[in-house]
Amino acid sequence: MNGRFAGQTVYLTGGGSGLGRALVARFVAEGAHVSVLDRSAEKNRVLAEIYGSAVVTTDGDVRDLAAHTAAVAKAVAHFGGLDVYIANAAIWDGNVSLLDLPVERVDAAFDEVFGINVKGALLGAKAAAPALVERQGAMIFTLSIAALRAGGGGPLYTSSKTAGIGLVRELAYELAPFVRVNGVCPAGMATDLRGPESLALGDTPLMANVDPDMMRSAYPLDFFPVPDDYVGPYLFLASRDSAVTTGTLIEADLGMSARGIRKVAGRAGT
Ligand SMILES: NC(=O)c1ccc[n+]([C@@H]2O[C@H](COP(=O)([O-])OP(=O)(O)OC[C@H]3O[C@@H](n4cnc5c(N)ncnc54)[C@H](O)[C@@H]3O)[C@@H](O)[C@H]2O)c1
Repeated sequence: MNGRFAGQTVYLTGGGSGLGRALVARFVAEGAHVSVLDRSAEKNRVLAEIYGSAVVTTDGDVRDLAAHTAAVAKAVAHFGGLDVYIANAAIWDGNVSLLDLPVERVDAAFDEVFGINVKGALLGAKAAAPALVERQGAMIFTLSIAALRAGGGGPLYTSSKTAGIGLVRELAYELAPFVRVNGVCPAGMATDLRGPESLALGDTPLMANVDPDMMRSAYPLDFFPVPDDYVGPYLFLASRDSAVTTGTLIEADLGMSARGIRKVAGRAGT
């Protein structure tokens, strides 16, 4: 297979839908092999059907170290090694605020959101690190604009994504000079993103039906992205084009961090 990532292997969590699915499509198109860990056996089945021998899948939960170990072992056994780990699986909290968190559920909801978003990302790094050191590879953490500012979620999601910055910095420091570790902070997109089962939001695709015009109006770049629009920063951070870069974040936020106070000419809705 030709392409920029020919001969390379990516281990990706949450590749079954949304951003993860777009990452699988683009890395395979660029010549990579991909090992996916996702808790949805049905989504994994569809991936296997579409991508055939370019992708291997593991049904499992990111909170389970053994599931990561199995997915990394498959990558090495099928494709000969590992070059990139992308910690991407996560759940949202549906913007449930501190005051609205039910007293009887706050404990379980914290454990669930941090278990998937933080512990899940760390366990994947633990399982992937030895193989990545061997190949001088890269880790990329999918964070969120919620990692950097308030209001992209409630306190559970926001603090879990902010904890991801700590993982990026610490692992970048510990794993240098062998493995580069960076994060991507996307803004919104319509996906199958779910909420915590402990808040009865596990079956609700919270971002599937958001109003694109409402989302767009928050972004200076004035469009509501699809998952594929966010893939570019991952290709950059996975490649040697970013050889001088570790411990950093790419804000894929359509200019939200540069949003000013007054409205300017040329913006939709002004
Ligand atoms: N959708 C957005 O607006 C948005 C914005 C910023 C950041 N993000 C981040 O993008 C990433 C991908 O989310 P998405 O929006 O594509 O959602 P998604 O639900 O479409 O994709 C997430 C995938 O992860 C899997 N998954 C969830 N929990 C899991 C677990 N415990 N174990 C194994 N697999 C699990 C799901 O089955 C799904 O296939 C997440 O890290 C999310 O926080 C999303």
